[in-house]
Amino acid sequence: MGAVTEKDLAALDDDDLANSSSTDGKKKKDEERAARSAALEIPGVVPESEWADLPSVLNARPKPPRVDFRTGLFLAPMVRSGHLPTRLLSLQYGADLVWGPEIVDRAIMGCERVVNETTGIVAFIKDDKEVFTTHPIEKARVIFQLGSANPQWAYAAIKRLTAHNDVAGVDLNCGCPKPFSTIGGMGAHLLSTPDLLCDVLRAMRRAAPPHVTVSCKIRLLPTKEATQALVRQIIRTGCIENLTVHCRTKEMRPREAALPNRLQEVAEVVAEETGGALPLCCNGDAWDAKEAQSLMQLTGVKSIMIARGAEANPSCFHPDGVRSITSEVAPQMVRYAAAVENAFPNTKFCLSQLAYKSTSSFNPKAKPLKNSPNKREMINFREALAKSKSDEDLALVFGVDLHQVKNTSMDDILRPVKEALEKKQIARPAEEPASTMKRDAIDIAHVQAASAKESIRHTENDTERSAEALGAEGSHRTLEHSAAA
Ligand SMILES: Cc1cc2nc3c(=O)[nH]c(=O)nc-3n(C[C@H](O)[C@H](O)[C@H](O)COP(=O)(O)O)c2cc1C
Repeated sequence: MGAVTEKDLAALDDDDLANSSSTDGKKKKDEERAARSAALEIPGVVPESEWADLPSVLNARPKPPRVDFRTGLFLAPMVRSGHLPTRLLSLQYGADLVWGPEIVDRAIMGCERVVNETTGIVAFIKDDKEVFTTHPIEKARVIFQLGSANPQWAYAAIKRLTAHNDVAGVDLNCGCPKPFSTIGGMGAHLLSTPDLLCDVLRAMRRAAPPHVTVSCKIRLLPTKEATQALVRQIIRTGCIENLTVHCRTKEMRPREAALPNRLQEVAEVVAEETGGALPLCCNGDAWDAKEAQSLMQLTGVKSIMIARGAEANPSCFHPDGVRSITSEVAPQMVRYAAAVENAFPNTKFCLSQLAYKSTSSFNPKAKPLKNSPNKREMINFREALAKSKSDEDLALVFGVDLHQVKNTSMDDILRPVKEALEKKQIARPAEEPASTMKRDAIDIAHVQAASAKESIRHTENDTERSAEALGAEGSHRTLEHSAAA
């Protein structure tokens, strides 16, 4: 069956199917029915009646949360670019938390979890494809990002992912405007279905163990009123421990300047609803640590998330400025990628996204680095990279001895990450925010009120849910996208 569009899904009801009379129509009808039942009979989906009781789940959360979202620089979720080598580099250069790329619920459901005893790498594998990989070194700082528009699938996916202690938190993507995400009602589409968005968050909170945080990443809505209503509704689920706002609307393109001034309208609601206790993270147009500081001053928030700056140069998190791509960052990426056995096409893609410019950053305001290669040398790097057909070719381009990497222990390979993380622990011991208790009290009150309403809505929405399950094909496309990334 071809790709299903939102229009197709909307049209796929029984009456339409029954009215179809031609042979082609009958065949299509049978295929659609088969797709529908396949979508509804998903192994691993737990009936809603068996889900845990939400207030008691919330009460069981550690206080304060184990992940410190309050201050710092975070690597943004990035499909294709946010895999393990980029996350390791970001941590090495100073990122406090790292988000993985969006992975859709159906991709992670039913995955096998395989641990490589030699390297420690944990891989979630399905149909011989690695859907998500992580290493214990990032365990306390990695946030898994889920793409979902179906609470039951979200529940099953997060249950599968968090069955072992592999990630610090799980995040819901409510901001991606790309068709592969929105076609299944996921990503930025959730901004226009807030009840569903909140149900997915509740399902994630129910599925994750208490010490695993739940958070979400949204975009701004066109008006202040609409944004505030959405944020209020999300906060009142009592489920999230961090809210990241990409300060663009769904319609805005990346080249259009972000709107950090509008973060204030979100901060107002966070203050009203939680006394400012819910961490609020600003995302959009911060290219490096220095700019992140300016953005903190402008917006008043203390955590900034960086995407394209880190894709161009993961050393953007370094407080003293970015490091040379050609002599330092790219060779280190090759080393990490080889050590964690990252798929060659992805390593090549990530290397090709690095900024081979004298500034080693896409930031138009960045100053040229000392001793950076000249224009001709930069072009040579790019050409050699484009011609590479194997990890060995990539290693040659950047002067890395792959044989030596393979004969070095994982502990030694990851030493720069370990040292960077140890420094952070010394610099910033965990302390309980004064307002945590207030927030917990607010959470529970909201959730108890919301739970009562929710049980009514669940009954009303049963029919709607069945229709959502028909989004399987759209989700499949994303599944492939994420797995291939
Ligand atoms: C290559 C790429 C992939 C992205 N993938 C995701 C994703 O998986 N999930 C998500 O929430 N946002 C995704 N985004 C959006 C970023 O996380 C971020 O919100 C956006 O790029 C704005 O931040 P920036 O100005 O620092 O780039 C992606 C962005 C890029 C450039």
